[in-house]
Amino acid sequence: MSALTSPKTHPLAKIDWDYVEFYTGNAKQSAHYYCSAFGFEQIAYAGPETGVRDRASYLLAQNNLRFVLTSSLLPDDEITRHVALHGDGVKDIAILVEDCRAAFDAAVAGGARVVSEPAEVSDQDGRVVKATIATYGDTVHSFIERKNYRGVFMPGFVAQAKSLRHVTNPELLAIDHCVGNVGWGEMDTWGDFYARVFGFSQLVSFDDKDISTQYTALRSKVMTDAEHRVKFPINEPAQGKKKSQIEEYLDFYRGAGVQHIAIRTDDIIATIRALKENGVEFLDTPDTYYDDLEARVGRIDEATQILRDLRILVDRDDRGYMLQIFTKPLQDRPTVFFEIIQRKGSLSFGKGNFKALFVSIEKEQERRGTL
Ligand code: FE2
Repeated sequence: MSALTSPKTHPLAKIDWDYVEFYTGNAKQSAHYYCSAFGFEQIAYAGPETGVRDRASYLLAQNNLRFVLTSSLLPDDEITRHVALHGDGVKDIAILVEDCRAAFDAAVAGGARVVSEPAEVSDQDGRVVKATIATYGDTVHSFIERKNYRGVFMPGFVAQAKSLRHVTNPELLAIDHCVGNVGWGEMDTWGDFYARVFGFSQLVSFDDKDISTQYTALRSKVMTDAEHRVKFPINEPAQGKKKSQIEEYLDFYRGAGVQHIAIRTDDIIATIRALKENGVEFLDTPDTYYDDLEARVGRIDEATQILRDLRILVDRDDRGYMLQIFTKPLQDRPTVFFEIIQRKGSLSFGKGNFKALFVSIEKEQERRGTL
């Protein structure tokens, strides 16, 4: 293999998460929710006061996590239509790249649909180069080059520090993976997309035998970069006795979109205690899940009783184990939610927990009358 075609030298071989942008109906109020419930701090703002006429955006940060919440100020534009169709949801999973133009050119050569060409924006703190391509549904990926920028985020935003008192800090660290739900039979198409456009390879896949209960089923494959920093699992619904939770998502989101963002912590017990104290609601897990926990996953450092009290799930692979828990949806539509994850060596996505988890999701679906 020549140096040119080696995956290590692909313009998207050295990447990382940059930020995730949500389009919301009321970014000001959403910002308050993410700060008070999840311990984010508001770092910067862009809007009419900073010379941006058509929208308001709030940059929230916590350790290596960055979320941007954006609302339109106009009656009918791309943001307004996005919110009307999808409800609050993830618009942009922005990726930090070394060289925006090289990344963009490689993506387009791989067949990506262009949303916006590379463009430089600058202010007194330097310059950021940004380009955007389309992915599943109305979701996009921006490529962000910020090596020549010293400011707090990017031109257009002004620093506006705001942190709330009386919020218990959950110490959320960074994004672990970001999951997309796509339509029937579209998982392979989007897996191929990440191979062609990003030069990603497949980390793992699950079929409906792994991930099904009596009623619901899905298939999933995980695409990742050479260094496993950015991981994109892609789910499609599979045929079950009743409606798959992926199908429910597609119905309410009106198409493909981001299902969940998994956020890493180094101490999931402290994190979940803090989040619960702040009022975050999590999916419940059947009590029986804990009865034979160590028999299923082997010896773990954490006391089973504490995991049982907090409803934290455990899964193991050949490298170690991981702990995870899922929030309820973050908005009225049963669409986007968070996963909180602590990895102790394992690269797993919780395959062993799918069944236990789905039983719990189905109970929620039943309550909404959509099972
Ligand atoms: Fe996940």
